[in-house]
Amino acid sequence: MSKTSYRTHRCAEISEAHVGQHVTLAGWVQKMRDLGGVIFVHLRDRSGIVQVTFNDDCERDVFEKASSVRSEYVIQVTGKVVNRDENNYNLNIPTGKIEVICEAIKILDTANTPPIYIEDDDKAGESLRLQYRYLDLRKPGMQKKIITRHKTAQLVRNFLSEEGFLEIETPFLTKPTPEGARDFLVPSRVQQGNFFALPQSPQIFKQILMVSGFDRYFQLAKCFRDEDLRQDRQPEFTQIDMELSFVEPEDIMAINERLMQKVFKEIKGYDIELPIRRMTWQEAMDRFGSDKPDLRFGMELCDITDIVKDCEFNAFASNAKANHSVRALVAKGAADKLSRKEIDALGVFVKDFGAKGLAWFVIQEDNIKSPVAKFLKEEELKAIFDKTGAEVGDVVFVVGDKNTVVYNSLGQLRLQLAKKLEIPMKEGFEFLWVTDFPMFEYDEEDGRYYAMHHPFTSPREEHLDLMETEPDKVLAKAYDLVVNGIELGGGSIRIHSRDVQARVFKAMGFSDEEAQLKFGFLLEALKYGTPPHGGLAFGLDRLMMLLTDSDNIRDVIAFPKTQNHGCLMSEAPAVADLAALEELGIRVIRK
Ligand code: AMO
Ligand code: AMP
Repeated sequence: MSKTSYRTHRCAEISEAHVGQHVTLAGWVQKMRDLGGVIFVHLRDRSGIVQVTFNDDCERDVFEKASSVRSEYVIQVTGKVVNRDENNYNLNIPTGKIEVICEAIKILDTANTPPIYIEDDDKAGESLRLQYRYLDLRKPGMQKKIITRHKTAQLVRNFLSEEGFLEIETPFLTKPTPEGARDFLVPSRVQQGNFFALPQSPQIFKQILMVSGFDRYFQLAKCFRDEDLRQDRQPEFTQIDMELSFVEPEDIMAINERLMQKVFKEIKGYDIELPIRRMTWQEAMDRFGSDKPDLRFGMELCDITDIVKDCEFNAFASNAKANHSVRALVAKGAADKLSRKEIDALGVFVKDFGAKGLAWFVIQEDNIKSPVAKFLKEEELKAIFDKTGAEVGDVVFVVGDKNTVVYNSLGQLRLQLAKKLEIPMKEGFEFLWVTDFPMFEYDEEDGRYYAMHHPFTSPREEHLDLMETEPDKVLAKAYDLVVNGIELGGGSIRIHSRDVQARVFKAMGFSDEEAQLKFGFLLEALKYGTPPHGGLAFGLDRLMMLLTDSDNIRDVIAFPKTQNHGCLMSEAPAVADLAALEELGIRVIRK
């Protein structure tokens, strides 16, 4: 498979089995050592490295040419595979017991001195690496990640095809999709003044494919979202996207559990025990303050609202009485690990998540250090410590606020404390289905409800009657797959009745006209016989991070974007040509 006009093998395909054979190899010079009478070249290609040796037996001109090669030159060599002396074994490379004694060399291309080292332990900063991405990608570690990505994609394609899914492409030039991020817009030249949106996901098209009767669809789909980047987000990323007809959540979850089991086994040699554990959204929030809980460690939240509802500390009592909540988190044994300064810093930390304050209690043998203990009765303190299981040596943190704020601030504090206190994590991958998400989420600023997943997600049938009266109580047929605190994928059963779809739009404050304008073509399609359907999408990039132990999403994407949405290699985005803008009828207003 590796044989071409230029070579008989890839470098690291050569082994002791080839001893005595003549081979021709082509690749990059990793390293060249000229010891006078003998020249050693480490030749590299995507398979790895092999040593090629030029010695006395070489023709003069071959030897001279070999002495002129430098790092990253591209060369072709022909020679005989021989065993190395045992004392010359290089056990750092798989081909270290053999070498190729060269008879001919051809320099296919020369190379400037590369600005970064082509080694996995290269210390170059990320900007330099991204600017010279083609060199960065030559590193064995990076090659391995990209190759693993290919293998994973193949595995997914094969698995889903065998399960009866059809791979169908959906367009990039579309109307805005409803995933809730900002759209990337593309101006239309032919219809001046109109814009396409790049898809945030193939959501609407895949639902329409179900209307068309394709029954099971999948795609490794590029998605575009103009949102602020974080460690595991990119403005363009890839989803393993699927949609199925005549299904309930159980059907979709079962197929995807098997898909993940296969991928983790074949790529990582890791066994996922099925069925994957499940937890309702409410339980995840109550116990971990997060809809993507990291289950590799404990430290669960504890509701102490009842205990403090009549206490003298106003921040607690007022929230308890307002039907908000007061919850606690215990940092075991942290009393002598956290300084006052560090505790104050945690108080600042939670403010980023909306908390107005962070109350704390350091439980010492004969004393409780706390700025708020003085407002609480002895029995109230005792009840708090009993309920939370806090003991001497622990620190108890408490937030009283609206539920969303309490969950979010304590959920984040839990992760922060785990890092700070180096809490031991369970090894491996903790998979979890989070189910029964609320259908809607109220946005205070906009004064309206939004769909928590997306507006095509089906409410639970038994909650339909609550839609107009108590939208907060409506649960959706939506599910997320979470791994080690990362949202790997999510999906839902969709609405297939026009009437329900209209009510959901209404609950979100869309007028009929708005709904028609935005999603009219889907609403129209729903008129002609729609099968019950649902689906899910995984983030392929996030999956690759897990499978390759990468903590940076850019490491698993060949040509990623930086924090400010740029490509340092191609220098995109760039100023547009004035004539092109003219043709599009666009004038740029510089702010
Ligand atoms: P959702 O918006 O939850 O659902 O996206 C599905 C998965 O895509 C990944 N993901 C991202 N990965 C990298 N960078 C990003 N900016 C980014 N945004 C999302 C996550 C996420 O779990 N159409 C629905 C799916 C459905 O209902 O079938 C959707 O897009 O891993
Ligand atoms: P204050 O009365 O605002 O000076 O706050 C006294 C202590 O209570 C400080 O440690 C605050 O961080 C904390 N605190 C204030 N508001 C809250 C709240 N809503 N929940 C928990 N702790 C709070």
